[in-house]
Amino acid sequence: MTQPTPRTDLVAPPEETVTDPSTTRPVLQARGLVKRYGGVTALSGADLELYPGEILAVIGDNGAGKSSLIKALSGAIVPDEGEILVDGAPVRLPTPIAAREAGIETVHQSLAVSPSLDIATNLFLGRELRRPGVLGSVFRMLDRARMRAEAARHLDDLGIMTIQNPNQAVETLSGGQRQAVAVARAAAFGHRVVIMDEPTAALGVRESRAVLDLILRVRDKGLPVILISHNMPHVFEIADRVHVQRLGRRAATLDPSGCSMSDAVAVMTGALDPAELSESALAPGAVR
Ligand SMILES: Nc1ncnc2c1ncn2[C@@H]1O[C@H](COP(=O)(O)OP(=O)(O)O)[C@@H](O)[C@H]1O
Ligand SMILES: [Mg+2]
Repeated sequence: MTQPTPRTDLVAPPEETVTDPSTTRPVLQARGLVKRYGGVTALSGADLELYPGEILAVIGDNGAGKSSLIKALSGAIVPDEGEILVDGAPVRLPTPIAAREAGIETVHQSLAVSPSLDIATNLFLGRELRRPGVLGSVFRMLDRARMRAEAARHLDDLGIMTIQNPNQAVETLSGGQRQAVAVARAAAFGHRVVIMDEPTAALGVRESRAVLDLILRVRDKGLPVILISHNMPHVFEIADRVHVQRLGRRAATLDPSGCSMSDAVAVMTGALDPAELSESALAPGAVR
């Protein structure tokens, strides 16, 4: 049986962190996704593109279909229609495991860590490293030393210096540190994409700051990030592009350096037609 191993080949993209969408193929793309729950249409032809080296924020009112979109991209639901492409090739993501195998890691909104377990064990939960040879393959013995060492390396890699000891139980950590463990795990195993659903929603100001810095470091290490957030200042601070989800589909993709937060909120609520925005407010590659 093959052992999943955390990636060690995080490479920064060649020049600029943000690639020019007009000339680059998306790492992850959704086309025309439809998802119905009985009489409710959660996704009504949703498109999304994530490009190499970017943080793409996804914003939208309650019920706009943000979670459904992210669930489709992370294998948690199967859309009724439409397609998902990874590096330009159509993929099927029938399960979260299939999405992970495609290199897509998701940090879910409900804290996805087990409080009573230590940091290293949490990091490797579900893909534990086994001892080499027969001890691992036959007796299924865990390689705790290697997991501890690799956990320490990953935390260090992302600059999570405040966590000193990977043997520490997660329940002794603050909310921000727990979120950092969840992010570190996604960054360690995500080969292509990290998706984060409201990672700062439950955190205080300082803790949020630390998690935002962590997200920037994940991007700067070469892993593109999809960030679902309600927090406009956070979105405008760290996102390279802003996907606005409305009524189950994309209303626009905005350039946060070219438009205001109130414009973004107005597009989100339907008060402003994106066609009325100036060219500089729309992100490159944006579809109106
Ligand atoms: N499992 C479900 N069963 C029935 N309706 C659902 C389910 N999940 C989502 N919906 C509905 O689909 C719509 C979009 O929901 P969701 O994707 O959660 O939006 P958001 O995350 O933007 O708030 C909402 O009207 C919601 O009530
Ligand atoms: Mg939601």
